[in-house]
Amino acid sequence: MKVRPKITNLCKIAAACALAALFVAGESSCSQVELERQASAMTGGDPAKGREAISRYGCATCHTIPGVKGADALVGPSLEHVASRSYVAGVLQNTPPNMIRWIQNPPEVDRLTAMPNLGVTDTDARDIVAYLYTLK
Ligand code: HEC
Repeated sequence: MKVRPKITNLCKIAAACALAALFVAGESSCSQVELERQASAMTGGDPAKGREAISRYGCATCHTIPGVKGADALVGPSLEHVASRSYVAGVLQNTPPNMIRWIQNPPEVDRLTAMPNLGVTDTDARDIVAYLYTLK
């Protein structure tokens, strides 16, 4: 008889933990959705398509990019928190049009940069920047 209340308490704790975990998971996915909504409003691009384009253009051969599979290279800077930086590549103010300009033609912005012109189309650049702007 003495064991039962203990088990009940354990169950209550387990249930509370499970609820808390659900709540936390729900919270983070909500804020992810919100980040994506804000990023597409700012850029006019689609973050999901942008992530796919990032893989297609091989950005991962030089950059570590959160959320992009296999993107753990160290040739260029990590793009973690790139949306929160003040400058793009240290030379342009970090705005959506400037980020698009950089991605489409880095040597035009800074002729000494090691990041090449990868021939990114207008639509792909917009989508890529939408994804990068979710990386706050
Ligand atoms: C050959 C290697 C290489 C490839 C491929 C490459 N980058 Fe870069 N990238 C760099 C380097 C190096 C820098 C640092 C440039 C500088 O500061 O002059 C950079 C800088 C950047 C920056 C500015 C980061 C910051 O902190 O200001 C962004 C954004 C970026 N790259 C995105 C991309 C995207 C998106 C792609 C794919 C379309 C890509 N890069 C492909 C090498 C590369």
